[in-house]
Amino acid sequence: MSADLSARLAAQTPGYSLERDFYVDPDIYAQDLETIFYREWLFAIPACQLTRTGAYERVQIGAYNVVLVKGADGEIRAFHNSCRHRGSVLCKNRAGTVAKLTCPYHQWTYDLDGKLIWARDMGPDFDPSKFNLRPVHLRELAGLIYICLADTPPDFDAFAAMARPYLEVHDLSRAKVAYSSSIIEKGNWKLVWENNRECYHCAGTHPALCRSFPLDPAVAGVSADGSTPPQLQSHFDRCEAAGAPARFQMGGFAGQYRLARMPLQEKALSYTMDLQPASRRPLGRVGLPDAGTLLKFHYPSTWNHFLPDISLTFRVTPIGPQETEVTTTWLVDKDAVEGVDYDLQRLTEVWIATNDEDREIVEGNQQGINSPAYVPGPYSPIMEDGVVQFVDWYIQTMQRGLAPRATLAAE
Ligand code: FES
Ligand SMILES: [Fe+2]
Repeated sequence: MSADLSARLAAQTPGYSLERDFYVDPDIYAQDLETIFYREWLFAIPACQLTRTGAYERVQIGAYNVVLVKGADGEIRAFHNSCRHRGSVLCKNRAGTVAKLTCPYHQWTYDLDGKLIWARDMGPDFDPSKFNLRPVHLRELAGLIYICLADTPPDFDAFAAMARPYLEVHDLSRAKVAYSSSIIEKGNWKLVWENNRECYHCAGTHPALCRSFPLDPAVAGVSADGSTPPQLQSHFDRCEAAGAPARFQMGGFAGQYRLARMPLQEKALSYTMDLQPASRRPLGRVGLPDAGTLLKFHYPSTWNHFLPDISLTFRVTPIGPQETEVTTTWLVDKDAVEGVDYDLQRLTEVWIATNDEDREIVEGNQQGINSPAYVPGPYSPIMEDGVVQFVDWYIQTMQRGLAPRATLAAE
């Protein structure tokens, strides 16, 4: 399978959408999980989502069931949501608050740091210290929690070093969750990303978003030749003079992540229908009200928008070969009061509409690809260089993951 898949990856036409099987085949989907989602760092939640001691959030990634929980010491930890007795799930709900993690099956009980503290009738030789919960690697980056399922995670430090200065001015330690939505898009996870990485579709699809988000391909794209158009450069310079890092940077293997503080449409200050800030109490200390949006993506799990007034995180979770969950979380300053500083509908309406419009076009894309008549088509070199970059990253990351160990060692 892996030699065969490597050959098929190599046979994809550059600048064209992938062959049908990459979007429909359950075996390739399983390989995507193994090679990408079970190995890479994945965005899980904003740290502020877990406010109190014992607050937890469950995250499902393919076959893995992970629970993130806030300890008495304020630390957030991640564990495999599987009891060390006979494997039952510990937390069945998607989120909640517990005093301890107690297994529903035979009530083995774990402290919030994963330590087994109670197990009944296990005999005199039983050593509870051997049966603590299995931890999942976790890193916090300026208020964003990432996890990694691999035994030996890839490097996180280079990404953290690049992203931290951009994120710190948004001060997510002061954030609270104003709203969160999870939707299911009936499309392969790569179609969700391809759609995200271009705004070729925006004018025809997103009437609300287009009031504030510019159609300039340099905003959504990757500037393949490394040049920065003058209008963007002057925006970057203004932001940086005000203390908000802005310039376009990409990094990681095959461009796994990107940061850039992009201007919104003229006169737009936030993603609202009236273009005014969504919250009267800014989140963070970006001094320029018209600093636009810090765009950050990190394949394969997240894209984000950080604005002077609010921040938005998006998480992409594959559910099946033709099903992907997109979770959007709206963050505001923790002292912002709903109904006073922000109105929930006004805050969320542009992206709720945009997400639903994207769901519909991704689903239409999948339905068309499901036909045996589908053949790969060309991406626009002007409007879709971001998609080309994503597909290249996918192909190269899969090829690297599928390569025999000897090749990896020789790199
Ligand atoms: S499976 Fe958890 S206590 Fe038995
Ligand atoms: Fe869209």
